[in-house]
Amino acid sequence: MIIGIASDHGGYDLKLHILNELPDISFKDLGTNSSDSVHYPYFADKCCKAILSGDIDSGILICGTGIGISMRANRYCGIRAALVHDEFSAKMSKAHNNANILCLGGRTTSNELALHLIQTWMDTQFESGRHQDRIDLIDAPI
Ligand code: RB5
Repeated sequence: MIIGIASDHGGYDLKLHILNELPDISFKDLGTNSSDSVHYPYFADKCCKAILSGDIDSGILICGTGIGISMRANRYCGIRAALVHDEFSAKMSKAHNNANILCLGGRTTSNELALHLIQTWMDTQFESGRHQDRIDLIDAPI
């Protein structure tokens, strides 16, 4: 299980913290690689394309609030990016929504909480059944 992780400058410090504190997880670091200002959609693109091509299994995306980077990620059919701030949402994002990307805010979520949200998301199983029908509808033509 390879998890891509990417951020803009607003999420860079949290990305480094996650990589340092969760050494047992197989992360693929997709940038950014400094705190210089960058455009977050490019990093959402890298992660989404890597998931859809099968290079990675899922992803973590971080910008200042997690909002912009989740907006861009959710433009991709087949991507279910969940911006979460609490344990229940992290759990439900997998159990009901089978989120394949977890989005975090580097300026809104503490380092400790972020690690807990990641662990919760990773430890939760998708419940499938009626939830699969609903997920299929997310990608249905509009
Ligand atoms: C960058 O300043 C900031 O706008 C970005 O990280 C993010 O919060 C956007 O949603």
